[in-house]
Amino acid sequence: MRKPLIAGNWKMYKTPKESLAFLDAFLPMVEGHDRDEIVVCPTMSSLAYVIEHAEGTNVRAGAQNMHWLNEGPYTSQTSPTMLVSIGCRHVLLGHSELRLYFNETYERVNLKLKAAINHGITPIVCVGELLAEREDGKTEETLRTQVRAALRNISANEARRLVIAYEPIWAIGTGSTASPEVASEAHAIIRAELSRCCGQQTADNTRILYGGSVKPENITSLMAQEDIDGALVGGASLVPTTFAEIVHY
Ligand code: 13P
Repeated sequence: MRKPLIAGNWKMYKTPKESLAFLDAFLPMVEGHDRDEIVVCPTMSSLAYVIEHAEGTNVRAGAQNMHWLNEGPYTSQTSPTMLVSIGCRHVLLGHSELRLYFNETYERVNLKLKAAINHGITPIVCVGELLAEREDGKTEETLRTQVRAALRNISANEARRLVIAYEPIWAIGTGSTASPEVASEAHAIIRAELSRCCGQQTADNTRILYGGSVKPENITSLMAQEDIDGALVGGASLVPTTFAEIVHY
């Protein structure tokens, strides 16, 4: 049984004050909601405040990235032990905006994934193809390569908390969502690759989220798909009523 996970990626939006105002409005709207896991991923400057404010509720807060080492001379970075120390138990890894604008690589995502596993942090690894790759018929190859690289040398036992987010780059922030059929096809490719990498049980247990212009209007048809186990929501997760509508799909 894969419990659906609805996650909000706040990207570089919201000050701590705005983050707490979001929670004050949002928490009552989803109080007692247990069908889905709910996670929001604020910026690093808000994360500790959000975790503290949401304590004892059904909403968790995750980081948008992390380093794989515990400490060191790495200006700007946050380590897994630092995340654990503030009660953070989720992290987004390999988001396409990091890959596109900050030279993130799947080798590093693999190191970060191992570190997250070792620290008991639930990793949400993002994969997804460019429009050009889709148009060239390379979607399957791209997704398989990304999944394989991220999961290099990771055992089935280590992968048991893994979450994957399928985020086609052409659907992020563009308003054009993948149709449920297109998303399903990609999720099936990812699940098959998970099975090759870590075995069928991992493939069956791993939640695969869809991300890319998820809105209240399209969440229901996406969630109706067998292989879609939740959503990673950008823009629409910034507004409490809209994100709550998505959670209540
Ligand atoms: P949008 O929902 O704004 O398209 O962003 C998706 C995303 O990148 C989530 O990580």
